[in-house]
Amino acid sequence: MTLLPPAPTRSSAKPVKPALVNAPEGADPGVVSWVASIAELTEPADIVWADGSAEEYQRLVDIMLEAGTIVPVPARPNSYLARSNPDDVARMESRTFICAEDSDDAGPTNNWRDPESMRQVLGGLFDGAMRGRTMYVIPFSMGPVGGPISKLGIEITDSPYVVASMHAMTRVGTAALKAMHGTRDWVPAVHSIGAPLAEGEQDVPWPFNSTRYISHFPETREIWSFGSAYGGNALLAKKCFALRIASVQARDEGWLAEHMLLLRMRHEDGRVMHLAGAFPSACGKTNLAMLQPTIPGWKVETLGDDIVWMRPGEDGRLWAINPENGFFGVAPGTSEKTNATAMAMMSHDTMFTNVALTADGDVWWEGMTKEAPEGLTDWQGRPYDPANGPAAHPNARFTVRAEQAPSIAPDWEEAVPLDAIIFGGRRPTQVPLVMQARDWEHGVYIGSTVSSQQTAAAEGTVGDIRRDPFAMLPFCGYNMGDYFSHWIDMGHRLGRHAPKIFSVNWFRRDEDGGFMWPGFGENARVLEWIAGRVAGTAEGVDTAIGVMPATGALNLEGLELDQETLDELFEVRPKAWLSELVDVEAFFGQFGHSLPTGLVRQLNHVRWRLEHM
Ligand code: GDP
Ligand code: PGA
Ligand code: MN
Repeated sequence: MTLLPPAPTRSSAKPVKPALVNAPEGADPGVVSWVASIAELTEPADIVWADGSAEEYQRLVDIMLEAGTIVPVPARPNSYLARSNPDDVARMESRTFICAEDSDDAGPTNNWRDPESMRQVLGGLFDGAMRGRTMYVIPFSMGPVGGPISKLGIEITDSPYVVASMHAMTRVGTAALKAMHGTRDWVPAVHSIGAPLAEGEQDVPWPFNSTRYISHFPETREIWSFGSAYGGNALLAKKCFALRIASVQARDEGWLAEHMLLLRMRHEDGRVMHLAGAFPSACGKTNLAMLQPTIPGWKVETLGDDIVWMRPGEDGRLWAINPENGFFGVAPGTSEKTNATAMAMMSHDTMFTNVALTADGDVWWEGMTKEAPEGLTDWQGRPYDPANGPAAHPNARFTVRAEQAPSIAPDWEEAVPLDAIIFGGRRPTQVPLVMQARDWEHGVYIGSTVSSQQTAAAEGTVGDIRRDPFAMLPFCGYNMGDYFSHWIDMGHRLGRHAPKIFSVNWFRRDEDGGFMWPGFGENARVLEWIAGRVAGTAEGVDTAIGVMPATGALNLEGLELDQETLDELFEVRPKAWLSELVDVEAFFGQFGHSLPTGLVRQLNHVRWRLEHM
């Protein structure tokens, strides 16, 4: 029976010679002996320490071209298309585990496994898992190396695709490794595609294993991921560390790790607002972060599109950073019309995954243009035939460095003080275009009751509505009831400095199934009202479920939207909402005594108001 090696310690009892694992000079002995223990377990053919350089990226590209993992995209300089195996295209929530000592600490919404038995299962799987392959050691920093809100980690992987993607998504290399010297304050993360190569065996373009484990050990801050090379399952710095493990660190250390975009909206008259927004995967974070306002005077600067770490500052305000270094965005639906910023950003140095290829060597996906061009090759490398489904996989992705976004804020690596937080999901009915929470506790209630239609970003039935509190359902590393309490406590700590909280919904549908709200750049109108609420200049009307724009307070100038649609976007139907509350109550019920009483109070208050409308 093979057990996983124990979590790394600050200094190992038995120091290992750095030369044995090819370690760079000056690497911390605790790091070196941990890497040695992983090498002993997984038995790779060789070991490479990533330095994050452009030369290294080119070497990885050459390896992947040779293996057929990627093909060039000639129309865009230094850009490539990776075609994954069709069985490895999205996050797998059913195979994602929180291995806390006590199942109560994982809570009712996570898959819990006993750490001891998981270490046995993984020990068996990782035993010899890297035979015949190169093991890459990737030291990285989330947030600028040494920054006040930053954290360090090391990912070990046997996938060159993962290393190349980590180059774009995190700060990889020597500076991060140096910062780990003399400390155990870094997160160890091990990933294997689980496809060892026998002597002389021919490799496949996208090796993987259909047995999957995306496992987190919150107490020892470890991540072990087996079987999949898809972003959310394999780029362990992202969802696994920066959300699941970091949310536990944040609980223990008094800060917040959230599934949010981060932007600055600036008016030419000098008004500035910093806003963070939590939407479930594939519900509009990247698009909002890169929004080009349709209303005059305003500009949006991108700070982040997926993850935000926030800490109360000495001035009592909540300060936020985007800990990532790049964007891993949904390709389908992205076009010159919906997100010209993203289109410009992807014109060079981009890794595409599972998009279609045109006859003249460019990429294509559904929604980029109205009609599919002639002579497409679909995401599986076949001549495009609509009978086989879409040309690009619905969860096809692009991976680029943040600095490539024309809208990136010049100071995007620095922390910003938050003015507003928004929550949203895909709700075809019921949830209004925008409303403000009455206070922080009501805002936490709104966050805790976010619900959304499932998207292609994870396995499951696309379109089914589920509760996805704070868009963190798949990403909270501990008991969600305790997470709600942590948010309520944060409000007490911030007091009058707390950001204002809002709910938005861009996804209301009419009877014909069309979107009622034009969305994208027009969402700036909603942000303008939010900025006005923060500044105390925009008018609102208190309703049973929250504060909505007063008549005329939402800037609709130049927008073709009939009165009927507008009314519908803000209509509160007591009966429908009361039955929604039945669902909320059932959802809350599963948390038992860990549900903060404040949320019950809020639920009862909303119900009382609806009953008395
Ligand atoms: P993320 O995964 O949360 O970052 O979501 P994205 O910003 O990548 O968007 C996911 C999908 O939703 C894409 O197909 C977008 O085109 C679409 N989308 C984003 N914003 C809007 C919007 O305001 N209205 C509509 N109708 N669709 C949107
Ligand atoms: P996102 O998630 O859709 O929130 O960008 C990426 C992922 O699925 O890992
Ligand atoms: Mn995104």
